[in-house]
Amino acid sequence: MKGDFLKAMQFRHACKIFDAEKKIPDEDLRFILEAGRLSPSSFGLEQWRFIVVRTQELKEKLKEACFNQVQLSTCSDAVVIAAKIEELLPGSEYVEARFACLADRPEVLKWVRDFYASYYSGINISQWSITQCHIAAANMMTAAAAIGIDSCPIGGFSLSKVMEALGLDEVKHTVALIVPFGYRVNPQPQKYRLAFDDLVEYR
Ligand SMILES: Cc1cc2nc3c(=O)[nH]c(=O)nc-3n(C[C@H](O)[C@H](O)[C@H](O)COP(=O)(O)O)c2cc1C
Repeated sequence: MKGDFLKAMQFRHACKIFDAEKKIPDEDLRFILEAGRLSPSSFGLEQWRFIVVRTQELKEKLKEACFNQVQLSTCSDAVVIAAKIEELLPGSEYVEARFACLADRPEVLKWVRDFYASYYSGINISQWSITQCHIAAANMMTAAAAIGIDSCPIGGFSLSKVMEALGLDEVKHTVALIVPFGYRVNPQPQKYRLAFDDLVEYR
């Protein structure tokens, strides 16, 4: 188990070009998306929305919006992770529905509502929403790696161009990350990471 998990972590790398001829089976794509769906989120608000881009036409538009990064045009499927904004407003129908799942007693519900309203007023909501989406992205990439599928997190994009290509409304959403999935063409480069002891301290 531990070995399998670490193998997946080592297998995952920021793949720079995919085999454009190889398509991910629907069942495997579903498995990847499920890992995103089951991810943890602050206040259980599931701040993400997953837009799966499959047509070549839209992939080419995304490529252009991502400074011509070829991962977008060669991948099998690109998952654009849109971060919710408007729905996260305290008291919104969306928030109320999520909190109803979290809190089973009226006093707990009131506490969560009040705490959320105060928390919300002190943060940058769009940035906060994006951080939640990154957790889902990481889980999807690890899930993909576990079944031999490559990915690349793409944060290098023109926000306005991606929003336009997908017809997203800036009041409702921003774009957190784009994650193309597919199969590598080139061998994986060496992985560079800081040494364990330079990162981890026990107190
Ligand atoms: C939020 C985020 C945005 C990134 N954006 C890009 C990108 O636009 N293009 C790209 O090729 N790699 C991108 N990367 C990949 C990193 O460059 C890569 O993960 C890092 O260099 C470590 O290499 P590895 O993932 O292959 O181990 C991004 C990674 C993260 C986490």
